Amino acid sequence: MSFLKEIQRRRTFGIISHPDAGKTTLTEKLLLFGGAIQEAGAVKNNKIKKGATSDFMEIERQRGISVATSVLAFNYKNKKINILDTPGHKDFAEDTFRTLTAVDSVIVVIDVAKGVEEQTEKLVEVCRMRKIPMIVFINKMDREGKDAFDLLDEVEQKLGLTTVPLSFPIGMGYDFKGIYNIYEKKLNLFSGDQKQTVSTGVEFNDITTPELDKIVGKKAANTLREELELVEEIYQPFNKEAYLSGEIQPVFFGSALNNFGVKELLDCFIEIAPSPQPKKSEERLVDSKEETLSGFVFKIHANMDPNHRNRLAFIKVVSGTFKRNAPYLHVRLGKKMKFSSPNAFFAEKKEIVDESFPGDIVGIQDSGNFKIGDTLTEGEILNFKGIPSFSPEHFRYVNNADPLKSKQLYKGLDQLMDEGVAQLFTLDLNGRKVVGTVGALQYEVIQYRLEHEYGAKCSYENLPVHKACWVQPQDPKNQEFKEFKRVKQKFLATDKQGQLVFLADSAFTIQMTQSKYPTVKLHFTSEFN
Ligand code: G4P
Repeated sequence: MSFLKEIQRRRTFGIISHPDAGKTTLTEKLLLFGGAIQEAGAVKNNKIKKGATSDFMEIERQRGISVATSVLAFNYKNKKINILDTPGHKDFAEDTFRTLTAVDSVIVVIDVAKGVEEQTEKLVEVCRMRKIPMIVFINKMDREGKDAFDLLDEVEQKLGLTTVPLSFPIGMGYDFKGIYNIYEKKLNLFSGDQKQTVSTGVEFNDITTPELDKIVGKKAANTLREELELVEEIYQPFNKEAYLSGEIQPVFFGSALNNFGVKELLDCFIEIAPSPQPKKSEERLVDSKEETLSGFVFKIHANMDPNHRNRLAFIKVVSGTFKRNAPYLHVRLGKKMKFSSPNAFFAEKKEIVDESFPGDIVGIQDSGNFKIGDTLTEGEILNFKGIPSFSPEHFRYVNNADPLKSKQLYKGLDQLMDEGVAQLFTLDLNGRKVVGTVGALQYEVIQYRLEHEYGAKCSYENLPVHKACWVQPQDPKNQEFKEFKRVKQKFLATDKQGQLVFLADSAFTIQMTQSKYPTVKLHFTSEFN
């Protein structure tokens, strides 16, 4: 197959949702359609169970398992589909944000009864800012939930999306009869069995036909006709270009558990979702069709098994062909490297492959050469953008609890930060180290791993910080910036990239500081240009 055809047939995407909306179930059903797994239940162990928050080893164990399911690749109707797994647990939200830098589109799963939830809001906001094409899947239609129009309204209001329903439910919960596929003009009836067979659906170009009344009953048929009329009046017609540019978001209804509406979603997805897109680097825009290789690390997975300490770096191929044993430039280190056993991922296993194409994810065994955001090329100096850090939610001083092991402590901290476990800030005033995390859980993970992998001990001390703000002076030489630095000296720190950060103790402080020093901009993310 030609290089161009390989690119065009790839669809690399992520599924995002609030925990429990049905992401794992949907992933599994997609894999079943692709023939990548044989039975339901196979992907389940990927999920971090509820209530596991106090047991981080269990979480890490499950994260370990999830290496296999970090990328789920399968073929469907001659398309190569790469699903990038995003952890649902909110303490790992940073992982999810970073994974979103490697997807070309996203499917958002929403629970029909719960509607739009917090985690979904945050993740969709990031996708919206980056104009990532999104399809919304409203799940659990077999349960009583919100009215379809109310829910579409909620999606528009809370997520700031412009919805275009491409399917519409006939009733819900106890009265759920099926789904009319607006996109294909087909009716699919719900039987409630959990078999993994694919219902073919009835062609229904003309919903005015009395045939519909016979199938779903007069009342439901009339309601559907009225509702479809409303849909046509309220929502704009589907337009692929508008979806691809992030202006509209098609919506599907279904029940992942009952395998209902999933095939419709998948069939539409492979048709409309984008193949690998160009990506911005600091130097230039890199097109996926360029023949020379470029790619970047978006995830590093440490192996928790003490006998196999190697890490796995996940590289998204942006352009060109990634070849086994070819020499590539590690841009940050300025070093040529060869990889003798790059892994490709298929549903539940990984295999060594000779060639990978744009859109694919390559896994590389790494002993500490890579950090998140690193770029590989055939020689060109490129640095891919868009892997920002966001302000952590928790901040603690880290103290060395074993003075004889300070070298190990700093090495360990350094490597864990490269993996993206947490963020490290060094206070300008006294050089003390502050670890910032999204969830409290990471502190336990760091402490455990420092001890078991690096032989170092640490203790923590709370630091009352509300947010880390990345500082952008209009002019680093002006008086206002100098004054800001003098007055706020105690609260200034440097992140691992050497950027200046203001550790603000409250939202009020941020507001006051911003109005007192208007030429010094404060940002909640490290990438603001
Ligand atoms: P997540 O990955 O987004 O966290 O959600 P997951 O797929 O694990 O689904 C959360 C729960 O919702 C699971 O039940 C799952 O069976 C259920 N579920 C998913 N899709 C549907 C659906 O279409 N209809 C209904 N009624 N339920 C659905 P659980 O009891 O928490 O887990 P389990 O015991 O089934 O594993």
